[in-house]
Amino acid sequence: MIPQNIVFIGAGNMARALIAGLRRQGIAGEQIQVHAPSSAHRDALAEEFGIRSLAATAQSLPANSVVIYAAKPKQISAVLALWRQAFADAGVLFLSVAAGIDSARIAAELNPGSAIVRGMPNTPAQVGAGATALYARDSVSAAQRQTAGFIMSAVGEIYWLSDESLMDAVTALSGSGPAYVLLFLEALEDAAVLQGLDRATARALALQTVLGTAQMAAASTLSPTALRHQVTSPGGTTAAGLAVWEEHLRPLAQRALAAAAERSRALGSPEKDIP
Ligand SMILES: NC(=O)c1ccc[n+]([C@@H]2O[C@H](COP(=O)([O-])OP(=O)(O)OC[C@H]3O[C@@H](n4cnc5c(N)ncnc54)[C@H](OP(=O)(O)O)[C@@H]3O)[C@@H](O)[C@H]2O)c1
Repeated sequence: MIPQNIVFIGAGNMARALIAGLRRQGIAGEQIQVHAPSSAHRDALAEEFGIRSLAATAQSLPANSVVIYAAKPKQISAVLALWRQAFADAGVLFLSVAAGIDSARIAAELNPGSAIVRGMPNTPAQVGAGATALYARDSVSAAQRQTAGFIMSAVGEIYWLSDESLMDAVTALSGSGPAYVLLFLEALEDAAVLQGLDRATARALALQTVLGTAQMAAASTLSPTALRHQVTSPGGTTAAGLAVWEEHLRPLAQRALAAAAERSRALGSPEKDIP
């Protein structure tokens, strides 16, 4: 269902990515409003995307509005306190992308019956290639679920979770994942330079290899394991390299995701100061 009135709280990177995506999807500029403390930031977005800059806190919102919370997690309580009356209106869908803030906490600070969807996008959303996991509370109607899916699909692929506690695993995988892939790219580039390639060539080849392989895997019905076997001849160069990766990569991946998920759980507990 296409929302008629979309209010962004926050005018930073994620709000920008979503607004750009929604405009690409054909949502009219006058249907989108953005609020942030800095008038310069919200006005810049308003001008760039032809949307409305919202200066003051509203006491009510039009029926069937969607509020997208895209400010930092640590500001959420202050924002909810200020806007409570407008956000708690029946019919308003509250979609939060704040990392680590669970929907029960939002419901407790807003209204237990509020329609709340929690999303965990990632930075490739900035180029429309994000991966977003979504969780809807029971109070969210089928139409509101569709609306939340429509909004997050504007910046990439979406995946619904039936258990919100899995958000920590999602945060560890797709939320933090872009940084892991960038580190992998750096490591490949540095290793290729040690093998004699100039840095620019090493960077370009590493990047295209990761990009091309991801595209190939996405286009195939085969599992990554089956695809890998297809390109690995016994006794060949790939097998020699893979033997080294195999020795260390799986335990490292397990430790990295466990550490990130643990951090996500810790940041999500209300007594912690979330960055
Ligand atoms: N970036 C990502 O890839 C990513 C991925 C997953 C989840 N998220 C989540 O998305 C949210 C936004 O992240 P971001 O990277 O876009 O942050 P950001 O670029 O730092 O933007 C934060 C925005 O929040 C605004 N803000 C601060 N206090 C506010 C208040 N009291 N009321 C309304 N707006 C307020 C800021 O206003 P000013 O412009 O006035 O400073 C700024 O526009 C976070 O909760 C984060 O956990 C982001």
